[in-house]
Amino acid sequence: MIKIAPSILAADFAKLGSEVDQVAAAGADWLHIDVMDGKFVPNISLGFPVIKCLRKRTDLFFDVHLMVEAPRRFAARFCDEGADMLTVHVEADEPQYLIEALRTIHSRGKLAGLAIKPSTPGGIVLPFLEYLDMVLVMTVEPGFGGQSLRQETLAKMRGVRALIDQYKPGCELEVDGGVDIHTAPLVVDSGASVLVAGSAVFGRTDRAAAMDELRMAAAVKA
Ligand code: DX5
Ligand code: ZN
Repeated sequence: MIKIAPSILAADFAKLGSEVDQVAAAGADWLHIDVMDGKFVPNISLGFPVIKCLRKRTDLFFDVHLMVEAPRRFAARFCDEGADMLTVHVEADEPQYLIEALRTIHSRGKLAGLAIKPSTPGGIVLPFLEYLDMVLVMTVEPGFGGQSLRQETLAKMRGVRALIDQYKPGCELEVDGGVDIHTAPLVVDSGASVLVAGSAVFGRTDRAAAMDELRMAAAVKA
């Protein structure tokens, strides 16, 4: 069963609570929360207070995507503020420090993910797989919503899917960036099990219809 994870980056932050209520009512599987530090990516989004407030409002599964340098500095705090899955970028630190962060996440009872940028080879995830509950393949350059999916990332996604099936069955494969009704069949065909969707959900006034259409598109054979 494919999971849909609306990304609040595309929501109206002036009414974030009701935006989240809408996608929860529309059957979102997870809520994708993008945290940016202005250094790992050239943008700044949101942090601890927003996650803490949203945590009090909804039981949705919080899928927190850290686009932050040296994420081990903040892993424990994001878990304690309400993340259910915390994903760090492989490009954001040295391998031993990333493993430290992944261990911290598990020690807090949460799930751990590793994200790779479009230009990072998929094979880089192999030595981390034993520590992972999810691999996130970025299909746009991280930092901004509303970009088009880069088709050249699909072949890499297939490679990551093959690694997961061989070495860590059950590990989720999330795709993030430019997912809409046109690209959903392609990413599912390439092995994705969780689809992040910012503009495709929050860019529409009828979030329930947007979610239904995405779900239907994800079920179409590419
Ligand atoms: C980009 C973020 C994405 C973003 C996706 O750096 O990681 O989660 O919200 O937005 P769309 O779905 O509009 O491409
Ligand atoms: Zn994201």
